[in-house]
Amino acid sequence: MENTSQFCHERGLPFLEARALSKTYQVGSSTVHALREVDFAAMQGDFVVINGPSGSGKTTFLNLISAIDRPSEGEVLIQGVSTNTLSERQLAQLRKDKIGLIFQTFNLIPVLSAAENAEYPLLLQRRPKIERAERVRSMLAEVGLGELGRRRPNELSGGQRQRIAIARALITRPKLVLADEPTANLDSETGAQVMDLMRKLNEEHCVVLLVVTHDPAVTKYAKRQIRIHDGRLIEGGQP
Ligand SMILES: Nc1ncnc2c1ncn2[C@@H]1O[C@H](COP(=O)(O)OP(=O)(O)OP(=O)(O)O)[C@@H](O)[C@H]1O
Ligand SMILES: [Mg+2]
Repeated sequence: MENTSQFCHERGLPFLEARALSKTYQVGSSTVHALREVDFAAMQGDFVVINGPSGSGKTTFLNLISAIDRPSEGEVLIQGVSTNTLSERQLAQLRKDKIGLIFQTFNLIPVLSAAENAEYPLLLQRRPKIERAERVRSMLAEVGLGELGRRRPNELSGGQRQRIAIARALITRPKLVLADEPTANLDSETGAQVMDLMRKLNEEHCVVLLVVTHDPAVTKYAKRQIRIHDGRLIEGGQP
């Protein structure tokens, strides 16, 4: 990654805010309160680890922040703009240009090779071919998969797939990275390598990181930790 080391503005407007954010799902005749009135803010350069038991609402929270899901109540603001006010098209643009997503389930495209999966966001951004090739090459090397670019996801191990998903999320150099258990399928050495990359993004490129994890090796690098329990943010919502 080229060095564009810059000053991380910690003051001023939060980069990201959630205000009284709630999400309910209707399942048959019962209502699931997946998230309840969560208030949260993160400044530029923040690195937040999200903890909480299974089913507590962590993935729901990330899906609302990335506007993959719409809130039932409340709002998400990114650089002061409420995502409630944006059209689907504007939301797609926002995700494409500013947000890198690493899903719990990877969501790789099975018919594309590892390199093509990593390249995909750059195609959406209509980047020139030479730039795409160079970025794919260096990104795959950074996640330790330089040799495996031609393989399809089903020809890779779980940990290797996870690293492709990470490469795909970071290749556009997003300002905000949302990651759901990014090191869950990695051995400790690869996990440390991936964390090193994320830490570098955070420290040198001021990328805001929001990471759902129980991995102490990840938590060690975080600037703060928040806890979600039964849909409520019970600890650490403000910077
Ligand atoms: N599409 C959906 N329809 C109905 N209920 C849902 C839906 N998605 C999530 N839920 C429910 O919302 C709650 C929060 O789910 P969520 O996936 O956010 O939990 P989580 O904290 O990410 O759990 P895990 O650690 O197991 O990934 C759970 O009770 C879950 O069953
Ligand atoms: Mg989850």
